[in-house]
Amino acid sequence: MKIMLATKNEGKIREIQRILSNTSINLISHNDTEIPEVEETGSSFVENAIIKARSASLVTGLPSLADDSGIEVSFLKAKPGVKSARYAGENATNEMNNIKLLNALKGIPMEKRSACYRCVIVFMRFPDDPFPVICSGSWHGFIAEKPLGSNGFGYDPIFYLPEYKKTSAELTDKEKNSISHRAQALKGIEKYLIRQHNN
Ligand code: IMP
Repeated sequence: MKIMLATKNEGKIREIQRILSNTSINLISHNDTEIPEVEETGSSFVENAIIKARSASLVTGLPSLADDSGIEVSFLKAKPGVKSARYAGENATNEMNNIKLLNALKGIPMEKRSACYRCVIVFMRFPDDPFPVICSGSWHGFIAEKPLGSNGFGYDPIFYLPEYKKTSAELTDKEKNSISHRAQALKGIEKYLIRQHNN
C-alpha cells in the first residue's frame, strides 16, 4: 500500500520508516514527492495531525499518514506541547529549543522535572475522509540538567529516562523505536491497516 508521509522532519521520517519497515506499507516521503508546508493552526495534536494529513492527501492524491508530536513539561503546565518545534521562536533549531527549556527549569530539582512525549498519528484515505484513524502514544521521563547523547532528534538529548539511566539521545535507534510515543502510536495504525487489508 502506497502512503504519503506528511512531514518534512527528517528525524520523524527516519523513525517512522524504520518502525514500519517490516510491513507492506510503501511510505512515500517528501524526499520522493514534494509537499508544501502547512500552517499548524490547531490547539491540539489531533487537530494539527489532521490538517497535515489532509493537505498531503490533497496535494498527492495518496492516502496519507501525519505525525503531530511534542513534549509536555509538568512544571510548565504542559508547555511547550503543540508548540514544541517552535518553542524558542518561529525558526528555532533543536538546540535553541533545548536551551530555552533548560533555562526555564534552572534550579528546579529532578523530582519536579517530569515530562511526557506525546505523539498522535493520523491516517486518512483521501482529503475529505470522514473517518480519520487516530492513534496516540505517550512516553514519560524527566528533563535532564544538561544535554547528553547524539542519537534521535529534537528534545532527545535532554529527555532523561531513569529506568535506563540515559537520555533518549543515548538510546540506540532500536531501543527508542521499540518504546517511544511514536512507536506506540504507529503500532495502533499498523494494526488498523492490517485489519482493513484482511477484510
Ligand atoms: P511537529 O509535530 O512538527 O509540530 O513538531 C514536533 C516537535 O516535537 C519536534 O520538532 C521536536 O521538537 C519534538 N519531538 C516530537 N517527537 C520527538 C522525539 O521523538 N524526540 C525529540 N523531540 C521530539
